[in-house]
Amino acid sequence: MEMTNAKSVLPNEARLATAQLNPPEVPAAVVGLGLMGTSMIVCLLAAGHPVIGLSRNVDRHRDVPDHIRALLEEMQREGLLDKDVDSIVKQFRISADFSDLVDRAIVFESIVENLAVKREAISRIEATVSNETVIGSNTSSIPVALLQEGAAHPDRILGIHWGEPAHVSRFLEVICGPQTDSFYAEYVVKLAELWAKEPTYVKRDIRGFITNRLMYALMREAFYLVEAGYATCSDVDRSFRNDLGYWATFAGPFRFMDLTGIPAYAKVMEDLLPELNCGKSVPELMKRMVESGAQGIRNAKGFYEYTPEEAARWEKLFLKFSYEIRALAAKYPADVGNTRVTSSLEVK
Ligand SMILES: NC(=O)c1ccc[n+]([C@@H]2O[C@H](COP(=O)([O-])OP(=O)(O)OC[C@H]3O[C@@H](n4cnc5c(N)ncnc54)[C@H](O)[C@@H]3O)[C@@H](O)[C@H]2O)c1
Repeated sequence: MEMTNAKSVLPNEARLATAQLNPPEVPAAVVGLGLMGTSMIVCLLAAGHPVIGLSRNVDRHRDVPDHIRALLEEMQREGLLDKDVDSIVKQFRISADFSDLVDRAIVFESIVENLAVKREAISRIEATVSNETVIGSNTSSIPVALLQEGAAHPDRILGIHWGEPAHVSRFLEVICGPQTDSFYAEYVVKLAELWAKEPTYVKRDIRGFITNRLMYALMREAFYLVEAGYATCSDVDRSFRNDLGYWATFAGPFRFMDLTGIPAYAKVMEDLLPELNCGKSVPELMKRMVESGAQGIRNAKGFYEYTPEEAARWEKLFLKFSYEIRALAAKYPADVGNTRVTSSLEVK
């Protein structure tokens, strides 16, 4: 790849000018073929990258190529893909051998959310790939700083946080750890635009990045309301869907305050913030759910009861909705009016 060495003294702009931004020339790999790994592969293949999916157990993932094909065909039916699915699928193969990553320009780690296991995978990736390969972790909440500790090339390690379904969602967060060379983060942001993403560049590492910090603050309060007997899970879900849920694809919290009048929020904050839940441990209800073996739709056991058929229907509906909300959001782009943040609020 035409990327200049990490120790380059050239400004990022000059390095980006020569960086390879043509997906077919940027061989990629995804380590971990679970829920997210699979949809990330679909996104990368659709964008034109040749992709290797690395699995510890190829036998267990025999059905992955068929699943990938089905998702690509669906993308085509939904109008998100105009390339030939047969030729795209040929650009994918599964391997159990880390040495197959030798020619990869970008490698995404998407295995279990466990620091030790992720570090081990990253060191195996580093041992094989070239000095120019970008290594992105799809961690949900592990700070990039911790993933960089003990790494051979921390400057090329960054957080690349995807959202499910990764081949449909416009969401992507690119996170610089303290040792990341910002050139690689800027490079991934540019590449992500070719994956039909609207990437967010998180310049300073923080556990949970942006969306997970927001989402978990909300989930903590949701558990509190249920555990303290104020409402049921379905009450919480109904309120959420019909209030925050309806505007969240149109506006973020700051735009929403602009739209609905700022001073009232300050007044409510004064009274409400001291009463919000600030618990620091996993809610008891959540612990009981996990101990009972509930995994949600995956095993038809969750906060709601499902027959296997109902669980399959929810999974299908979620994907259908993802396509529809994406199409709706496209009619109301983020820059419909402007994206200029009031200048005194810009992060330097
Ligand atoms: N599920 C989501 O919506 C979501 C969203 C954003 C980020 N993430 C993050 O993505 C990562 C993967 O999540 P998921 O939901 O796909 O999980 P998952 O359980 O569906 O998949 C994890 C996969 O990793 C494999 N694996 C485990 N250890 C491995 C190893 N050492 N080498 C190779 N493969 C290994 C497992 O066999 C499994 O196939 C996690 O870090 C998670 O926090 C998930």
